[in-house]
Amino acid sequence: MSAVLEIKEGLEGVVAATTRLSSVDGEAGVLLLAGFPVEEVAPRASFEEMVWLLWHGELPRAAELASFSARLAAGRALAPATLDLLRAAAARRVDPMDALRMAAGTLSLAPEAGSDPRADAALLVAAFPTIVAAYHRLLQGDEPLTPRADLSHAASFLYLLTGQEPDAERVRGLETYLNTVSDHGFNASTFTARVIVSTRSDLISAVTGAVGALKGPLHGGAPGPALDTVFEIGTAERAEEVLRAKLGRGERLMGFGHRVYRVRDPRADVLGAAAERFYRRAGDMTLYDLARAVEATALRVLHEHKPERRLDTNVEFYTALLLHGLGLPTALFTPTFAIGRVAGWTAHGLEQHDRGRLIRPQSEYVGERGRRWVEIGGR
Ligand code: COA
Repeated sequence: MSAVLEIKEGLEGVVAATTRLSSVDGEAGVLLLAGFPVEEVAPRASFEEMVWLLWHGELPRAAELASFSARLAAGRALAPATLDLLRAAAARRVDPMDALRMAAGTLSLAPEAGSDPRADAALLVAAFPTIVAAYHRLLQGDEPLTPRADLSHAASFLYLLTGQEPDAERVRGLETYLNTVSDHGFNASTFTARVIVSTRSDLISAVTGAVGALKGPLHGGAPGPALDTVFEIGTAERAEEVLRAKLGRGERLMGFGHRVYRVRDPRADVLGAAAERFYRRAGDMTLYDLARAVEATALRVLHEHKPERRLDTNVEFYTALLLHGLGLPTALFTPTFAIGRVAGWTAHGLEQHDRGRLIRPQSEYVGERGRRWVEIGGR
């Protein structure tokens, strides 16, 4: 028998590597992205600047930004085989996150794939919005649109969904969202990506695995259900009754609680402010005001329900509100999260590739020992 090992179920509190990409202080409610507080950088950076910052550790200069933006724009078109796969997936109405996972793997078909990790990273970041938008159109019975190189990354995604050039406010709202979720410590999908790269596998494999991890409702799958709850409640007076009934049935309230934050998730404030600006500009605050009321009631009933666990608002609650305000359907919330988080997945892949060690924890065996083989007739 080996020495007694301390078991941390779910790896809670375990520090598995160092990173320069983001710092999550769960007690103080502070998130740094490459050294910048999230509220400082997310509402100001373009997504291209954010990706560069994560990959290089510095903000790009004008010439660097121009050539990087052009490089990403040049990588938007999908290979015919990727489109064929999306058509087959749409014919079977496969979940959009499964379609994204399958299509991500096809990026290995690009001639430059596998040549070096940065080439893979650029392929992934550039192609994700095109994949998500093409698949969404196919599900609606529409043909995918041809990407335009003259639009920014965020504007291109909105254009590829609708065929209309988005206005500047909408693009800013989406960029603020994508930047806000671009990286977040060793969350489950990022950890998945780093484990894969730690075996000296490639970034396309790593990001494909990360998409699978993001899909689950305990990670990236929460904003859709969070918005559904707000719609189900309908009017502020019904919030308490509906939320208490959910807790009574043993359900979790989506958009609340976090593995690391014990206070309000700072990303909720960045997205809440962006959502408020957006709804105010649109001239209809009804949904925004309802969501604020639902949030206040949820925090109160969660505190009563689990006084010993500090459950507060997480990023997903205001993600739902903002993305809905931007006109994105619920089915696109988690794939849009992936379009932002692929910045962090690739940055972690590069960091792991350059400096990381094989990630290989242990488990404690709790099964039987010393068993004897029984022939088939005797079982
Ligand atoms: N609603 C109701 N109860 C919740 C809750 C929520 N949103 N989040 C946690 N709890 C409860 C759990 O049921 C558990 O109770 P128990 O001890 O009686 O089983 C207790 O609080 C501790 O939860 P735990 O599962 O240990 O927390 P975790 O750190 O593993 O989970 C989340 C963190 C995010 C998975 C969890 O808070 C959750 O499921 N939230 C809802 C989904 C969501 O919004 N996900 C997006 C995350 S950004």
